[in-house]
Amino acid sequence: MANLFDPFQMKGISIKNRICMPPVVCYGWACEDGMVTDKNVEHYRAIVKGGTGLIIQEATCICPEGRISADQLGIWSDAHIPGLHRIVDAVHGEGVPIFIQIHHAGVIGGMENVVCPSDYTCVHKGREKHGRELTSAEIQIIEQQFIDAARRAYAAGYDGVEIHGCHGYLLCEFMNRRVNRRTDEYGPDSMKILENILDGIRKVTPPEFVVGIRLGLFEPTLADSIAHARWLDAHGIDFIDASYGFTYAMDPEMPENYPLLDIHYGAQEIKKNVSVPVFAVNSIKSAAMAQQVLDVTGVDMVDIGRGILVNYDWANDARAGRDTGRCLDCAECMWRIDTEKCAGKRLLKKQRAHG
Ligand SMILES: Cc1cc2nc3c(=O)[nH]c(=O)nc-3n(C[C@H](O)[C@H](O)[C@H](O)COP(=O)(O)O)c2cc1C
Ligand code: SF4
Repeated sequence: MANLFDPFQMKGISIKNRICMPPVVCYGWACEDGMVTDKNVEHYRAIVKGGTGLIIQEATCICPEGRISADQLGIWSDAHIPGLHRIVDAVHGEGVPIFIQIHHAGVIGGMENVVCPSDYTCVHKGREKHGRELTSAEIQIIEQQFIDAARRAYAAGYDGVEIHGCHGYLLCEFMNRRVNRRTDEYGPDSMKILENILDGIRKVTPPEFVVGIRLGLFEPTLADSIAHARWLDAHGIDFIDASYGFTYAMDPEMPENYPLLDIHYGAQEIKKNVSVPVFAVNSIKSAAMAQQVLDVTGVDMVDIGRGILVNYDWANDARAGRDTGRCLDCAECMWRIDTEKCAGKRLLKKQRAHG
């Protein structure tokens, strides 16, 4: 079993501990051109100064029409490369590796005329969304946009990419047979879109470039997701960051009396079925709980998302045995990252001010 502060090696990349900052979109920081701002750079610099072993940069969109919101970071043109390079330099400057999550929001996107593998209607954030079925020619364009995004990520200096295949977004929709009802080669029993994207990325990046995926755990069942994970393992994926959420076309499960959450159970079952590193996430509120997740599930890395939003120094504090603070689930960060409004951050500040 891994200790939270054990180093980890993934391909040629050395990670100093098992603590990963997972992708967390900083809503409201970028403009409509998707360019990196100073605020983005300083955010990641502060996180790595705080001791985190690995960064997976927030969902960064492969095309303007696939954005979750108009202020999302972009990687759809070569013009984005210099700004992204600034984030990489800030993170590498502290000796920490960084991957970037490449993303298309599919039916739950925030732009006009959203698309989906099949015609599909769902409710997201209280609004009914209808996705128009993609043609196969449009799918091929999206495959190329993912491949181009990975090429740009490599050019910007990232150590790897994480393909966003989770949380109800486009590639997740392809993998879920309750959403994807196509009858062509991209139909529900096929991983064709992932195959074309992975093969294409391998052609435009060198072998040491890490290509992982954020994979849905219950799409729609755990058995389906295990099959997806096994397929990805056999097709050369380098890691699986296991999560789920944000849609209703899923059947989460876990055994009675399981000591953690269903999302951790799912990651544990994926880990048992693949040869590559697996990451677990969600509501890990303390260093003790992070260690428990490693111990119980056998995964390789833990993601601390909102915990690190509350306290950039989460990893250093955990290592020193100090209180890390914790997310109070106020959901303020789901809409705008205004650090002053974060309930967990305010509580930690208050506690520290009172010794
Ligand atoms: C404000 C916010 C933005 C997020 N953005 C992303 C994202 O870009 N990509 C992604 O895969 N998950 C995203 N997530 C989910 C987180 O990566 C993580 O899985 C989730 O917050 C649960 O982990 P935690 O309890 O440690 O925060 C986001 C979560 C929040 C709160
Ligand atoms: S306390 Fe609220 S704003 Fe802060 S990380 Fe948690 S949910 Fe987000």
